[in-house]
Amino acid sequence: MKPATSESVLDRPRDVTVRSSTESDVASMVAIYTHHVTRGLGEFDAEPMQAVDINRRRKNMLRRRLPHLVAERDGMVVGYAYAVPFRKRPAYRYAVKHSIYVHPDHLHSGIGRQLLPALVEACTGAGYRQMFAYIDAENVPSQSLHEVHGFRRVGLLEGVGFKYGKWTDTLLMQRAIGEGTTTAPVEIAYSRTT
Ligand SMILES: CC(C)(COP(=O)(O)OP(=O)(O)OC[C@H]1O[C@@H](n2cnc3c(N)ncnc32)[C@H](O)[C@@H]1OP(=O)(O)O)[C@@H](O)C(=O)NCCC(=O)NCCS
Repeated sequence: MKPATSESVLDRPRDVTVRSSTESDVASMVAIYTHHVTRGLGEFDAEPMQAVDINRRRKNMLRRRLPHLVAERDGMVVGYAYAVPFRKRPAYRYAVKHSIYVHPDHLHSGIGRQLLPALVEACTGAGYRQMFAYIDAENVPSQSLHEVHGFRRVGLLEGVGFKYGKWTDTLLMQRAIGEGTTTAPVEIAYSRTT
């Protein structure tokens, strides 16, 4: 057993719980996403996300054994994170890309620090070997969070986006999970359905 003073225990805000999302979390996730899509650096959607979109994505991912997680604080959903296939073609079936969003009133209070490792752990447990994040080049909080959790910068997509009246660059960050490329993968279920 780890001593009570170990770093991992001290690092963990006691009031945050991470669990799989349920249908009743969808409205909270839409509210969080809508805030960031209309003001932040996190996304490129022109249209606000609808509950039905998040719910469809949730169900698709869960069917593929991909994690779709929420973080709760005081019984309120304060963040969510999920992984989707990196690409649809079967050769890429051991790679996922992910997204993470924290409630605007709870930023920089330790939610991402809980959600991201939980997502990494869930993806590892499901047999995936590589995780990727596409992060706006100006999104310092997200880059720092990913660096803290073992992701490294592997590419810069220049001028790939246009939002808020200017061209934007996107950073690609990657992390090997589980046994990475050191062993052959255990076959995982693959379906082209999105
Ligand atoms: C990126 C995001 C998920 C980080 O989550 P968070 O709960 O705010 O982060 P945490 O409080 O757990 O912080 C963990 C680490 O992330 C980094 N970080 C978080 N906020 C930061 C900030 N404002 N400035 C710099 N680094 C920051 C730090 O490395 C931090 O470690 P520290 O506490 O020792 O400084 C959150 O800012 C967010 O939802 N942003 C809007 C949506 C978005 O951009 N999503 C990512 C799309 S790729």
